[in-house]
Amino acid sequence: MMDPMCFVRANVAAMSGYVPGEQPAPTRQLIKLNTNENPEEPPPRVKQALARGLELDLRRYPDPSATRVREAACRVHGHGLAPDQVVVGNGSDDLLTMIMRTFVDPGDGVVAPGPTYTLYAVLTRLQGGCFKEVPWQVEGGLPVDALIAARAKLHFVVRPNAPTGHVVALDEVARLCRSVQGIVVLDEAYVDFADDHGLGLLADHPNLVIIRTFSKSMAMAALRIGLGFMDRRLAVEMHKVRDSYNINAFSQLAAQVALEHHGDYRPIWDEIRAQRRRLTLALRQRGFVVPDSQANFILAQVPVGGMTGVEWLEQLKKRGIHVRHFASDPRLADKLRITIGKGVELDRLLVVVDELLAG
Ligand SMILES: Cc1ncc(COP(=O)(O)O)c(C=O)c1O
Repeated sequence: MMDPMCFVRANVAAMSGYVPGEQPAPTRQLIKLNTNENPEEPPPRVKQALARGLELDLRRYPDPSATRVREAACRVHGHGLAPDQVVVGNGSDDLLTMIMRTFVDPGDGVVAPGPTYTLYAVLTRLQGGCFKEVPWQVEGGLPVDALIAARAKLHFVVRPNAPTGHVVALDEVARLCRSVQGIVVLDEAYVDFADDHGLGLLADHPNLVIIRTFSKSMAMAALRIGLGFMDRRLAVEMHKVRDSYNINAFSQLAAQVALEHHGDYRPIWDEIRAQRRRLTLALRQRGFVVPDSQANFILAQVPVGGMTGVEWLEQLKKRGIHVRHFASDPRLADKLRITIGKGVELDRLLVVVDELLAG
């Protein structure tokens, strides 16, 4: 009998999988600031919708193309978008997989300015494509010329970027779309915490795909919902490659209701922005280097001459506070990515930081 391992595709066997942030068992004491979830619950109407879901006929498959979610998304987001320009994903990671399957042939180039979301490299590799990272410009600007020079099929830009939280100029994204012979994916996972967004670019740039997620600003990570906006011809192709029933009935119901009550989220986002400012200033006062962020997290460089990034991670964890550290990227070794939690959670974080700084 041959070892079944010899049937595994070589590129799968050779790669390490994506490592998601730790999801510790919930306890009352735990302060979870490591995976950029929303610290607040979604509006009560969303949970009520889930309760109504129990009355659904569970024997039946859900709507294969999440029609009501797509319609509600267009009503909320405007910009002349029509439901046939929207594809719904089981989280935006599902949309990323669909994008890879739709556009990337073995050997095709995929490029992104980095550091950025590490899943792009993993998915490219699974698809047999070649991933290349180009550095951000010194001030964080979009390296448009380097991205063009990469001559890739697919270009990823995260705005606000993860894990840095910075945003690039929308004009530069538009220039990228105009200049490349390929698809530009604008990943707007954190855009509801930012000052502006790119949906207005879609009308003039048919090679642009914009993706959003309900996991962060919409406080629904457990339900796995993402939205992709694009030229309707691209949407037809994306529908072909997805799992036929990729969004379960409960998630469709909750997503639709969340979109219908989109305005209920505004106070939550305003509070997160206010807490982001407070944490940024408080950590700067304590010797951390913290660039401005437009996301629901900050990237804080730990004070020079004290504990290393990984030591901070461990010490905070021992005291019940989980943050994110990217050990495998030397550029991020001295940095912690900290999700903006509730005010009281950040109060506690600052108390613990003070204790640790005092030794
Ligand atoms: C930049 C970026 N894109 C996409 C995702 C995926 O989000 P989800 O699959 O939960 O929608 C994340 C999650 O952390 C992210 O940081």
